[in-house]
Amino acid sequence: MRARVLGSAAGGGFPQWNCRCAQCQGVRAGTLAARPRTQASLAVSSDGDHWLLLGASPDVRSQIDDTPELAPRRDGSPIAGVALPNGDVDAWAGLLSLREWTPLRIFATPVVRADVAGDNGVLRTLERFPGHSQWIELAAGARVEAVGELSIEAVPLAGKPPLHRMGVRAADPLDNVGLVVRDERRGRSLAWFPSVAGPSPALEQALREVDVLFFDGTFCREDELAAAGRGSSGARAMGHWPVDGADGSAAFLATLPVRDKWLVHVNNTNPLLADDGPERAWLRGLGIDVAWDGLVWER
Ligand code: MLT
Ligand code: MN
Ligand code: ZN
Repeated sequence: MRARVLGSAAGGGFPQWNCRCAQCQGVRAGTLAARPRTQASLAVSSDGDHWLLLGASPDVRSQIDDTPELAPRRDGSPIAGVALPNGDVDAWAGLLSLREWTPLRIFATPVVRADVAGDNGVLRTLERFPGHSQWIELAAGARVEAVGELSIEAVPLAGKPPLHRMGVRAADPLDNVGLVVRDERRGRSLAWFPSVAGPSPALEQALREVDVLFFDGTFCREDELAAAGRGSSGARAMGHWPVDGADGSAAFLATLPVRDKWLVHVNNTNPLLADDGPERAWLRGLGIDVAWDGLVWER
């Protein structure tokens, strides 16, 4: 089983186009020890020939260009499917760049599908011919066959509707799911959990059994955005469990018997982005690190 991180940043990427915070300026100027990052997405394969994307980020086009395994072959693109963890723009807007007549299977819960494609005429661009795009339902706790030997199981997580649906409809238990992808032949599994608002028994049970996890690293601290002068929202209210603190996600992740633990969906304000900062050293001390674009995991 092989996975490659296509993007490791939160919505907006790093640096973010409209942000002059010390970190965005530092990475632009080359004075901060940090890598630029595109918006969160993971490519997974059981055979190296057929690939499943977890999330289709607005950066998918440049991500494909940067990934030789995803280059088109004589018989078409090796990308056979896309699974959506939620209906946030940074999780699905790349679908619009995946048009041009390649059949795609799109895996999503009913509420995410309705949000993304229900009354959205734009996504009919993926319905140009019979069988062009095929939506496959993700239900809580059920394994569905995906691509090659891979299956997907959706794990409902604490979360919220996408920002652009807030106040339009009520929250739904399947607004936000973690994706457990298994290589059924090799018995390997990975978790792609880029948005997690807080702990739950289902979360802990799912993560105990995987070989590698990619987890919500959006914010280091609950008040990080306010401290950076970017609004008053707290991390948890935005659907993201802060990493730091006695009740933070890192303390929880450190208790799990999983060998490889990576943070993804990291926001531009997060001090964990600095490779040489004290926050990063602390995280590594817990056996966790921040993923980067291009990171390959194989087992
Ligand atoms: C999030 O992760 O909270 C959302 O992507 C925010 C957004 O849509 O900008
Ligand atoms: Mn996001
Ligand atoms: Zn910034």
